[in-house]
Amino acid sequence: MIPLSLGAIAGLTGGRLDQVADPAAVVAGPVIIDSRAAEPGALFAALPGARADGHDFAAQAVAAGAVAVLASRPCGAPAILVPDVTAALARLARAVVDTRPGLQIAGITGSAGKTTTKDLAVQLIEGLGPTVAPRASWNNEIGHPLTVLRVTPDTKYLVLELSARGPGHIARLCQIAPPRLGVVLCVGRAHEGEFGGIDEVARAKGELPAALPAGGVALLNADDPRVAAMADRTAARVVTFGRGAGADIRAEDVRLDDRGRPGFRLASSSGAGLVKLRLFGEHNVHNALAAAALAGELGMPVTEIADRLSAAEARSRWRMEVTERPDGVTVLNDAYNANPEAVAAALDTVAVMARGGRGFAVLGPMSELGPRSRARHEEVGALAARAGLAGLIVVGEAAAPILTGAKGEPGWAGELIYAADGNAALDALRNLLGPGDVVLVKASRSAGLERVALALTGEVAQ
Ligand SMILES: Nc1ncnc2c1ncn2[C@@H]1O[C@H](COP(=O)(O)OP(=O)(O)OP(=O)(O)O)[C@@H](O)[C@H]1O
Ligand SMILES: [Mg+2]
Repeated sequence: MIPLSLGAIAGLTGGRLDQVADPAAVVAGPVIIDSRAAEPGALFAALPGARADGHDFAAQAVAAGAVAVLASRPCGAPAILVPDVTAALARLARAVVDTRPGLQIAGITGSAGKTTTKDLAVQLIEGLGPTVAPRASWNNEIGHPLTVLRVTPDTKYLVLELSARGPGHIARLCQIAPPRLGVVLCVGRAHEGEFGGIDEVARAKGELPAALPAGGVALLNADDPRVAAMADRTAARVVTFGRGAGADIRAEDVRLDDRGRPGFRLASSSGAGLVKLRLFGEHNVHNALAAAALAGELGMPVTEIADRLSAAEARSRWRMEVTERPDGVTVLNDAYNANPEAVAAALDTVAVMARGGRGFAVLGPMSELGPRSRARHEEVGALAARAGLAGLIVVGEAAAPILTGAKGEPGWAGELIYAADGNAALDALRNLLGPGDVVLVKASRSAGLERVALALTGEVAQ
């Protein structure tokens, strides 16, 4: 963090000091919300949680070295008292950004692929200078300011992931750290239920290009019409990325290797380079293009972008994580999250990886899809059948319409199994899997299917 005294933090957040002996004591960072992460120089933000209230851990955080607590009521420790701790974090983050006029801020949004794109972009942009980016998917009103507060006097680039669960969310995140560059990946069905429909999802994602200044750059996916249309909602210059000839940053001659990893020719008006991704699945082409477009705008030559993309690793777990077991079974752990587009992308990948062998999918429920949820699950079932899987295991009551969808595909002769829970799925798989098979595990995070994937890879006991 940029070092600030407690007095200064109180001024910036509109707070008042309570039980503070020395207002000149300096917070040098980090700003934390888990008292167990406390260390000398830290500021502990006390947030009310679902199970625990951060205020109850204030004394513990200070005992472990935290300089003070950002709190909404006195908590028996030196504190900066504010009416709303989350809002105070936002104000503090914005104040820090305002002290760094040279900081290049990029925001990434979209229904799927944000974290993957962020992880790729960081591995490119780190080559240009010190970069701060969220840990995992820290993309909401808490994770976002905490990420911004990790900026130090050396930081040159801040790469942020912006998520929305409703209108106005992205606009608010853009006020905390106003981006000059904004990437929109895709508009899909994720959280459709919370928004009301896909047009509302598009409107919310469009808040990022709408927030960009005239001197900024909107990086838009040319292959998603709802994203391409956001060119009309921005004052910024528009740069497009995609697979068609019309995009500014293009992937040409896309080919998947036998394990489903895409390779392509990265082309732009300033040159071209060959990319061989280490990530699995054709959907990652767009994520890679978006990262390439960002790095290109920040001044990285195309050949260097291509080399760095080819060396980039998946940094966040359970997103198309591939494990080859000693017995010849390949496990695709994509249990981090699921929505209809992401499941379609994952099914395509299993189909490619299983070429010449057998592909299986263990699918659980996709949450937050609203009134169309049943239809979306049925569509996924039909897709799974059309992917030519040798077997489909559907886990849990909420996912049962996937069975209906799969049964509706008369040309498919694979095994169709209903498992009440993860253990039942593992039992079924024990009798099914053999050398050369590929098995995908995917569901919304709340379904907890990562346990099935981890049991399959041997990381937890079956
Ligand atoms: N471009 C894409 N199109 C479709 N599906 C994708 C795409 N990129 C990633 N996915 C799928 O979405 C899953 C989550 O990817 P990632 O974590 O990058 O997305 P995210 O947008 O950050 O998600 P969240 O909103 O949960 O933070 C991946 O495991 C993959 O299955
Ligand atoms: Mg994410």
